[in-house]
Amino acid sequence: MMIRLRRLRQNGALRRMVKETRCDPGQLIYPVFVRDGTGVAEPIGAMPGQMRYSVDMLGPVLEKARDAGISGVLFFGVPDFKYENGSGAWDEGGAVQRAVRFTKERFDSLLTVTDVCMCEYTSHGHCGVLSGAADCVDNDATLELLAKTALSHACAGADIVAPSDMMDGRVGRIRTELDTNGFKNTLIMSYAAKYASAFFGPFREAAGSAPQFGDRKAYQMDPHNSREAVREVCLDVEEGADIIIVKPAIAYLDIIKTVKDKFLLPVAAYQVSGEYSMIKSAGAAGYIDERAVMNKSALSIFRAGADIVITYFAFELAESMRNGDI
Ligand code: PBG
Ligand code: ZN
Repeated sequence: MMIRLRRLRQNGALRRMVKETRCDPGQLIYPVFVRDGTGVAEPIGAMPGQMRYSVDMLGPVLEKARDAGISGVLFFGVPDFKYENGSGAWDEGGAVQRAVRFTKERFDSLLTVTDVCMCEYTSHGHCGVLSGAADCVDNDATLELLAKTALSHACAGADIVAPSDMMDGRVGRIRTELDTNGFKNTLIMSYAAKYASAFFGPFREAAGSAPQFGDRKAYQMDPHNSREAVREVCLDVEEGADIIIVKPAIAYLDIIKTVKDKFLLPVAAYQVSGEYSMIKSAGAAGYIDERAVMNKSALSIFRAGADIVITYFAFELAESMRNGDI
């Protein structure tokens, strides 16, 4: 007698019946870059296939997202003007605020998620306001600006605000701001374990948000650490986060698994710009089968424990899911 595991792999019907990881387009969130102005739909050089849109040009991409069964879109603002204190972030006429209103008026079933951070809006490109030493982001002063920004998104109708700044205490501060202004049901999806990462490179070109000096190592996490990720998540949970994000994804599958095992909240993983562009460029060069590698990397993220994946491949992955390829 021999135990034969291959018996379960004999044909497609058996493999389909016993597969352990099952994914649905409803688990996907698609990031969208929105610009000031009108009539803009411009390709992003470092992210082949991705565009920056002005709000009036969002219709087709939102329609596609809804029709693909994707749960929601995550808006990033790309303002024409940047200020020292990032004041464009909480402008009710800002691109993100207008994009949320536009989406909720026309595509109500799509969830609107907003990135809450200062780096797209500050002239220096850091994720908060500077104080004292030139390279020091003032944590507590930044909290006030993040709270104002999150509130302006909620006022526009955002379903979920997603703080990505990595300041201490921001989830609690934002929760209080939302609750005291009548937004008890606005969710907070916090980038709890966000690592200082070279994988963000293409995004910084897309959003024009590269720090003008220094780096983000004094606020984003050190890639050497995993126990610290548990502390970060613990704090955000205590402060009232509804969903936890781990970011980047492929290089941090161990963190996704740890967070999934230790906490009971839904876990989102962000397959970031660098992960996307590497697959796209190697595919375009003919070095890999782009579609197959895209499918496998998403599958790995789901298998590690992600309930939700934020990804620039959302449309292609939704199609793969419909076809039964993943
Ligand atoms: C802003 C923000 C960044 C990303 C999401 N929100 C960039 C950064 O922290 O430098 C990265 C997303 C991506 O690379 O796709 N704080
Ligand atoms: Zn930032």
